[in-house]
Amino acid sequence: MVKIFDLKNIISIKDMKRSDIDYLLDEASKLEDIAQSREISEELKGKLLGVMFFEPSTRTRMSFETAMKRLSGECIGFESSGSSSVSKGESIADTAKMFEGYCDALVIRHELEGVSKFISDVVDVPVINAGDGAGQHPTQTLLDLYTIKQEIGSIDNLKIALIGDLKFGRTVHSLANALCLYDNVELYFVSPPELKMPQEILHDLDKMNMSYTEVSNINEIIDKVNVLYVTRIQKERFGDIDDYLKIKGAYIINKKMLEGKDLIVMHPLPRIDEIDGDVDDTKYNKYFKQAANAVPVRMAILKTLIKNNPK
Ligand code: CP
Repeated sequence: MVKIFDLKNIISIKDMKRSDIDYLLDEASKLEDIAQSREISEELKGKLLGVMFFEPSTRTRMSFETAMKRLSGECIGFESSGSSSVSKGESIADTAKMFEGYCDALVIRHELEGVSKFISDVVDVPVINAGDGAGQHPTQTLLDLYTIKQEIGSIDNLKIALIGDLKFGRTVHSLANALCLYDNVELYFVSPPELKMPQEILHDLDKMNMSYTEVSNINEIIDKVNVLYVTRIQKERFGDIDDYLKIKGAYIINKKMLEGKDLIVMHPLPRIDEIDGDVDDTKYNKYFKQAANAVPVRMAILKTLIKNNPK
């Protein structure tokens, strides 16, 4: 059977079926050799990606740009609203229309939820959400799933703990939604009471009959899980810095806690203090591999969307 992928945009993981995710993860594994051996393919020669980042990024922007270059495409764009004419008062819609005139696809990061969706409604080229406020980060989820599959062999039947800032962390929102598509996955949400998973996401999980348990003490779950997915407390999303300071450092994973456990540690990064540096040199550390996996996964996304939607 020929596999097809017919989404034009990647805005929310909730728009995807398991077959869509499987398609992109299969494509990513076919591109893994090019990504890891730092070779170049000519799949997107002559194509241009518009990189509109209104909010800071290291991994997402760099890996999209690397992915495009490994496919012989090129990128134009900006890395803060201050370096675009948005700072002079130009609307986001007009800015996006300018990019549409130059580019074959747009990748957007913005501090407000819904901006990528809004842009996808005003342009005809594919739009990729690279993180919208505390909303979604679907391409991060794709590389997270790719990493779990690569490291453990399957995503079905796993016990996965999402730890840290579950309120503001967009990566855990997307990942929780995506894991509903897999069989017999059990989720554990570990957070301070102030940073629990939003009701809207819990409602999504309930609708999908997803099994989840909320706890505040990591010791309750560390012996049960296959994956510890750790996230930082999102300082920039707190209205009052004192609220942040009260819960900063609430969870810190270190080597001693992990000894003898059969699990992997993941983190979308950046990390602040939530994984001690002594974990870096252990078998548990999969977070740097996870960040490197962004390149084949984003190559697969760009190749698929741009080739499927020629201008
Ligand atoms: N994981 C992630 O989104 O990292 P950046 O904010 O550096 O892009």
